[in-house]
Amino acid sequence: MEIKFEQNKDLTSLNTFHIKAKAKLFATYSRVEELHKISFSPEFMENEVFYLGGGSNVLFNGDFDGLVLKSEIKGIKRYDKDSETVFLIAGAAELWTDVVDFAIKEGLAGIENLAAIPGTAGAAPVQNIGAYGSEIGEVIHKVECFDVISHNTLTLTAEQCRFGYRDSIFKNEGKGRYVVLRVSLKLKNSNLAENLNYGPLKKLKEKLGRTPTISEVAKEVTEIRNSKLPDPAKIGNAGSFFKNPVVRIYFYKEVMSTLCPDIPYYETEDPYYVKIPAGWLIEHAGLKGFSIGDAEVYPQQCLVIANKGEASSGDVIEVASHVVKTVLSKFGVVLRPEVNIIDSEIKVTILGSGTSKGIPEIGCHCPVCTSTDPKDKRTRCSALVETRGVRLLIDVSPDFRMQALNNEISYLDAALITHNHYDHVGGFDDLRPFCANGKFPIYLRPDVNADLHRRLDYCFSDTHYPGVPSFEMNEIENAPFMIKGVRISPVTVMHGKVPIVGFRIGNFAYITDAKTIEEEEKEKLAGLDVLVVNGLRDKDHFAHFTIAEALELIEELKPKRAYLTHFCHEVGKHCDLERRLPENVFPCYDGMTIITK
Ligand code: EPU
Repeated sequence: MEIKFEQNKDLTSLNTFHIKAKAKLFATYSRVEELHKISFSPEFMENEVFYLGGGSNVLFNGDFDGLVLKSEIKGIKRYDKDSETVFLIAGAAELWTDVVDFAIKEGLAGIENLAAIPGTAGAAPVQNIGAYGSEIGEVIHKVECFDVISHNTLTLTAEQCRFGYRDSIFKNEGKGRYVVLRVSLKLKNSNLAENLNYGPLKKLKEKLGRTPTISEVAKEVTEIRNSKLPDPAKIGNAGSFFKNPVVRIYFYKEVMSTLCPDIPYYETEDPYYVKIPAGWLIEHAGLKGFSIGDAEVYPQQCLVIANKGEASSGDVIEVASHVVKTVLSKFGVVLRPEVNIIDSEIKVTILGSGTSKGIPEIGCHCPVCTSTDPKDKRTRCSALVETRGVRLLIDVSPDFRMQALNNEISYLDAALITHNHYDHVGGFDDLRPFCANGKFPIYLRPDVNADLHRRLDYCFSDTHYPGVPSFEMNEIENAPFMIKGVRISPVTVMHGKVPIVGFRIGNFAYITDAKTIEEEEKEKLAGLDVLVVNGLRDKDHFAHFTIAEALELIEELKPKRAYLTHFCHEVGKHCDLERRLPENVFPCYDGMTIITK
């Protein structure tokens, strides 16, 4: 069983956006044994891995500097449980449209509303495909997967898949871990369609004067889709670019509908939340047909961004960012992409680079505190890390509100906390806007969690004041963990006598408030492209690296580039500090961006 790894594979025909991109490495597998073998190969272990289905929900932003794996597991079979129930089992590589056609020919009801959705059967449960009143999660019996961490095959029930609106375990903790091999659908042995709640399907029943057949519903759905959505064979697109936002009902009533009383909404399973059609918001923000280069907000369905010809991923992303900003300023709602944006790049924004008192210090008239250079204005330390469409905040400084406003941070996926000192957690209450769509995830040490429960008791009590922030506290060990497919490796460092956490993401690491680091923790920092590390001042401090100590660490770890942060005013002016640092070491400043892989 020889696995062939292709190099520099052209992905243009493998994504329905028709965006030009290449993968450093590419391989396919048609049996689980092959995937098992791949998962032990150096190509797999030494690279970032992306699992490609039909490429109908993906935007490659530049070449992919890793391994792309594509399933070739085929086959569609029916197993009759009894006269009423039939299980339909499809290999991950089967086209979803072929699965629907098979079910219709065999007279099996349950997926007719999901006709004509591009993509593969394997990708269908990942994003819980849904349309015209149905979602695949409602008919999933089981999903057979390969776990690339334990190297075992496992079968998840629908409940274990934790389906939500365009969401599942495969987009969260299972992302990059569980690879779908086969899906098993529980269908009804019947030619009659059942789910006719969607308006136009109700009308079809009225028009026919009887219950439509599954074939009639599939035909109607295909016609509606064709009238609204561009055919990816002719116009590059990935279906809905954004998800329909789910917001708290009080926000809808108190804010949105006062801005514009006509905004439609749909009820959700949770009585406290409603879903707003993003296409409506985009159209009513005046963005129908808005374009940059060949990327366009598709006029017939504004939820789609179309590639009219030669659009680059940059054009698509610029259109998407403009849509997000405009909708946010008009309706106060943040749209989140439904499309999977694949990016090997890591963008770090230094939100704050000052020590606990910030610069200027209150009441100080030294040359640094009175400097007019914006780089000498330092708020308390924190950073924003953006990679693969995921936005992570490191620490929530007391200056977080201004940092978020200055850097236009309107959405965050989670926050990572280094330790519980006030200058790193004092802005927690200002995370409120990020809790509008549910509990905001925080990743932190158990001792920090216990302390924050005490300090922020009003956020955790059973009967709390409406509108207080709500957090999902995830305790971390000193071992790697995943957030939406991004692998985070904690590194324990000593802040004086207190153990705290630094974080490594790819070849980037962020360490603050360290004074010493044990040898085995230092090993986790080998081979870095970028290290951000604290260097308080020249004079010794019991709990912080001095500039000289930080430079010693940099000399030892040899990252390609290093950036110093967490400065106090005694460090001098930014411009003087910049001059005296070695060639590959730079002082951070607030608002600085660092791009790496
Ligand atoms: N609308 C507008 N302007 C637009 C688009 C929509 O005013 O440009 C309004 C419509 O008039 C309607 C409402 O928004 O009142 C909803 O529109 P539609 O029924 O077309 O559905 P959607 O919410 O925009 C979702 C799915 C589609 C699915 C349709 C039909 C998401 C992200 N998208 O779109 O799925 O086909 O419902 O059920 O939930 C996909 O995921 O790629 C996809 C195409």
